[in-house]
Amino acid sequence: MNLYQITTWVHELFRLQVKEEGVYIDATMGNGHDTLFLCEMAGEKGKVLAFDIQERALEATDKLLREHQMRERAGLYLESHVFIDHYAEKESVDGIIFNFGYLPGGDHELATRADTSVKAVDTGLALLKRGGVMALCIYSGGDTGYEEKEKILEYLKALDEKRYLVIMNSFYNRKKDPPLPVFVVKK
Ligand SMILES: C[S@@+](CC[C@H](N)C(=O)[O-])C[C@H]1O[C@@H](n2cnc3c(N)ncnc32)[C@H](O)[C@@H]1O
Repeated sequence: MNLYQITTWVHELFRLQVKEEGVYIDATMGNGHDTLFLCEMAGEKGKVLAFDIQERALEATDKLLREHQMRERAGLYLESHVFIDHYAEKESVDGIIFNFGYLPGGDHELATRADTSVKAVDTGLALLKRGGVMALCIYSGGDTGYEEKEKILEYLKALDEKRYLVIMNSFYNRKKDPPLPVFVVKK
């Protein structure tokens, strides 16, 4: 295991809390690495719903899942994560991953955005079962992410502590724009 990578860190903690063979959402599909991780957790009995607004992300993820013989475990949707509640019932989802920002090497104009990200997180929390987890990888740096990070943190800070546990991790001594792994558990 390599904890230098925010995604590895998030996957390991996710695995500790979330039961296997459940229903999972990848709210920012990208190149499909989180979708593949969720498909591994889903096993043959679970399922994964994955969303992105770029056709390119669906193609990359489709290819990756086929290479690992896991394509049938996931539904891939060309859809904004703002509408994930059109695809799953309230309190029916075991775990959700958000990996904000832009596709590595891709168009920064197509990065996630503060307003839609906060709305999608709010919608996602309503879909989680009790005991379910939402993992968020929040990035800022260069020309993107600062407003989004601020708005998401503001939203999370205001969540009712009786209903949600919010855990923030930090790459504490990294000086320049460290990524921020956050976990929200629905009590
Ligand atoms: C950092 S990448 C995700 C990385 C990905 N999880 C992986 O494992 O490769 C962020 C992705 O969010 C997508 N995105 C941007 N706005 C979105 C939205 N409103 N709904 C869903 N996906 C969105 C981008 O197109 C981009 O592919």
